[in-house]
Amino acid sequence: MIREVKRDELSACAELIRKSFQTVADEFGFTEENAPRFTAFATTEERLKWHMDGEHRLMYLDEEEGRICGYYSLLLRDPGECELGSLSVLPEYRHRGIGGNLLLHAVKTAGEQGCTVMNLSIVEENTVLRSWYESYGAVHTGTEKFDFFPFTCGYMKIMLEETGNPNCRIVEGAERIDVDEVVRLLRTTYWAGKRSKGQIQKSMEHSACYGVYLEDEQKLAGFARVISDYATTWYLCDVIIDPAYQHRGLGKALVSHIASLPEYAGLRGFLFTRDAHGLYEKYGFETVNGRAMVKSPR
Ligand SMILES: CC(C)(COP(=O)(O)OP(=O)(O)OC[C@H]1O[C@@H](n2cnc3c(N)ncnc32)[C@H](O)[C@@H]1OP(=O)(O)O)[C@@H](O)C(=O)NCCC(=O)NCCS
Repeated sequence: MIREVKRDELSACAELIRKSFQTVADEFGFTEENAPRFTAFATTEERLKWHMDGEHRLMYLDEEEGRICGYYSLLLRDPGECELGSLSVLPEYRHRGIGGNLLLHAVKTAGEQGCTVMNLSIVEENTVLRSWYESYGAVHTGTEKFDFFPFTCGYMKIMLEETGNPNCRIVEGAERIDVDEVVRLLRTTYWAGKRSKGQIQKSMEHSACYGVYLEDEQKLAGFARVISDYATTWYLCDVIIDPAYQHRGLGKALVSHIASLPEYAGLRGFLFTRDAHGLYEKYGFETVNGRAMVKSPR
């Protein structure tokens, strides 16, 4: 569970950050002597207090089984830019999607704060980390060499307009979405135009359904559903935005909402599309054989 950091947790967070970045230090040969300012050695409770009180950073942690195991901070900079700080997951909690969830949470939080760009810095030599960020849409923007670091600083940014709030609300659950409205939307599609209402109703009853409504309207503006065993696989289908409401960011809001749900983190995602690959690629899906897209488990 991701939540805000409390003041009395700063010491625990500092320890978590140091431990997390120690694996990077070990991998690349950084020590307190050759890289005293590296995050693994320079993060103290006092420093985090300064981040909280002096810089007013937003700070979040991930707690699993009552233990703090992940962290990130956001430094808001004007106009509309922010910096992702010290994204970390304890080594024993890695490779199960916690880091990805924290990153998606940061993207969402930054968007809600009105940011359009999230900057971050990496150890340039850490190519695995760079690819990981790229899989979340980050682009490499440059490098810089500092005398006090034995490595090159790499800079990346994630554009956030894509995930900004387009003034819509997303409701979950078939019982909260009018089947006739879904029939109306699916009638406009190339894949479900001929489905009967009975079929659509049954498909909704056996899926996790998501409806998009514009803030000020009752009419259903978009719909999607997921079929999942909640253990290994989820299949995203029937993603449709009313043609009258397209090009307003509703599709991105809907897919980004679903792709960041904790119930699908760590599971393999599937979908099929004829022409909307670009939309799904933003959220980690990769094209396979031209039409099928598969999202690797995170
Ligand atoms: C980057 C980090 C937060 C990812 O946390 P996580 O919970 O393992 O993230 P996820 O489970 O969502 O994703 C795992 C993926 O991270 C990527 N990754 C990033 N850095 C990695 C590294 N140094 N070694 C191995 N994998 C790394 C891999 O692609 C990995 O994929 P895999 O599980 O298929 O091997 C975590 O590795 C960490 O704390 N690293 C040390 C601190 C750090 O470098 N933070 C980033 C600062 S810019």
